Amino acid sequence: MHENWAQLTNEIAACRKCRLCEQRTNVVPGEGNPQSKILFIGEGPGRDEDLQGRPFVGASGQLLDRMIHAIGLERTEVYIANVVKCRPPMNRNPEPDEAAACMPYLRNQFKLISPKIIVLLGKVACRYVLGDESPISRLRGKWIFRKGVWFMPTYHPSALLRAPEKKKEAWEDFKMVKAKLMEVSGRGEI
Ligand code: URA
Repeated sequence: MHENWAQLTNEIAACRKCRLCEQRTNVVPGEGNPQSKILFIGEGPGRDEDLQGRPFVGASGQLLDRMIHAIGLERTEVYIANVVKCRPPMNRNPEPDEAAACMPYLRNQFKLISPKIIVLLGKVACRYVLGDESPISRLRGKWIFRKGVWFMPTYHPSALLRAPEKKKEAWEDFKMVKAKLMEVSGRGEI
């Protein structure tokens, strides 16, 4: 695991497989506990993440931290990654070819972490991980079980910052995640 993990991280750090590498300050591979039972997947780094080389450290990251905390976890206990590892210019959505170039990294991270639960933050994560283009308002709050893994689509934290009235639904989703985590781990440990 350690060797493969280090190799994967090095590969991501040196990646030049798509145009997003040209404007990046830092690659943002992901961070957290690579042995966690729970993986959070966002869309791609924003400005703060690009500057720091860490996922979800800007305003939406602070909200995500609070939500993770609210279900009794620390950010360091879970793993947080993105569909694309380099910042799309002007925070646009990743293009399909950019996501296609980057997804093998996420798949390899998934294989090494082997999580039981994956929380999909927003439509872009749902599109590329589940292959489902449905609106997030329709996908959210319902478990999808595939190949031994529980997927919970929910709103992206930046959508919650834009539309705080959605926080109530997101909180319902996170409570379901907490219950599932207790179920899969017996005692609620991660
Ligand atoms: N938004 C994302 O989708 N990912 C990050 O890492 C930061 C903001």
